[in-house]
Amino acid sequence: MGQPLRLLIVDDAAPFRETLKRLLEFEKDIEVVGEAQDGEEAIALARQLLPDVILMDINMTPVDGIAATAVISTEIPRSVIVMMSVQGEQEYLRQAMAAGARDYLTKPFSSDELIHTLRNAYLMESKRWLQASPQPAPTMEHNGEIITIFSAKGGVGKTTISTNLAVLLSHELKKSVILVDLDLQFGDVPVLLDFEPRRNIIDLIQTGEWGREEVVSSLHQYSPQLRVLAPPARPEEAELVGGGHIKQLLTILRQMADYIIIDTAQSFQEPVLAALDESDYIAIIATLDIPTIKNVRLCLDVMQGVLDYPAEKTKLVVNRAAEDIGIKISVLEQRLGIGVSAKIPSDGRLAIQAANEGIPFVLSSPKSAISSGVREMAHKIAGDPMEAAGDSVPKWNLLGRLLRQGSA
Ligand SMILES: Nc1ncnc2c1ncn2[C@@H]1O[C@H](COP(=O)(O)OP(=O)(O)OP(=O)(O)O)[C@@H](O)[C@H]1O
Ligand SMILES: [Mg+2]
Repeated sequence: MGQPLRLLIVDDAAPFRETLKRLLEFEKDIEVVGEAQDGEEAIALARQLLPDVILMDINMTPVDGIAATAVISTEIPRSVIVMMSVQGEQEYLRQAMAAGARDYLTKPFSSDELIHTLRNAYLMESKRWLQASPQPAPTMEHNGEIITIFSAKGGVGKTTISTNLAVLLSHELKKSVILVDLDLQFGDVPVLLDFEPRRNIIDLIQTGEWGREEVVSSLHQYSPQLRVLAPPARPEEAELVGGGHIKQLLTILRQMADYIIIDTAQSFQEPVLAALDESDYIAIIATLDIPTIKNVRLCLDVMQGVLDYPAEKTKLVVNRAAEDIGIKISVLEQRLGIGVSAKIPSDGRLAIQAANEGIPFVLSSPKSAISSGVREMAHKIAGDPMEAAGDSVPKWNLLGRLLRQGSA
């Protein structure tokens, strides 16, 4: 887990401040760093503590919450202010929001409402802040590990997993990560991460002679440690991308980050083949149903049998794992002859909420079982980047082999 959210509580009633602290007592990702009993004290403490979030009452004397909000939001814009009001204070609330508060809670509120509002306000603000202030690209040379997320069937959770894995590696494990959306027709990584790409892979490959500098300027800086290469804006542009482009791209990206995570569409088309070839690991995503298992079997046969990838290159990840309704994991392993590296449980509510809000669940609900599944996958497959860093020459060359076979 990352750093806890540092909270300052401002309310003139000491018993209420105690109640709030009790409600937050068991939340490991929220730390109460200070309390103030009026606006003046709040301003002084905010300057001193630089909290992430300030939970601020409106009615206090001598300095009320609206005046304190106006000062703090100008002086310390990184501290997010969440107002607390009672019914009937709508006009005050409007003034507080105009003064710079980001969200509000109406008393009385439940602990769930409190925790959700605090986390959400903080996340939204962090995102806004990061997107408004792009960071310069790190200059350090890397020899990154390429992990392609692949499946033999559509809709099994590739994009959900690749976005959450990339965010977890970068935010929680502090690795530098580049996420490539290689679903060239219908890529939706930018939607799941809630950003409008200014440039995409087509802009890059149409630059004529392109190298590291052009690649750097084609990436979207999502957060300090995570950059994203967006897919084409229109499905018909997909055919402009060839295997050679992807090989050239990945050779450059490998030098720029600890991890390169690639989301794919379920196909063995040239750009995806090139990505599979260049990958250190391929995470094959499977769900616990017979049609998927049949397709994973075929996929493994192609990768290990025909194309001769070593067994350790392919990793099996079960998504929406719920053994009570699907096939048992042990049966799956037996039928496929491969062990399961990670299991990601089913959580439709969180998956859909994350997609709709554009906030990956590993950020909004880091302690949920579904986030733990992605964490398990990160540890099992991504491992330690220093260990993983080997020579930068591709170790397996499927595309080359296929092209040679085609021209023989
Ligand atoms: N572990 C999970 N629990 C519940 N719902 C999930 C889970 N993983 C993914 N989903 C949901 O399944 C749907 C498909 O997921 P996603 O788009 O990530 O799949 P995909 O393999 O990328 O699909 P496509 O082949 O169309 O690119 C989405 O609605 C997503 O929210
Ligand atoms: Mg997808």
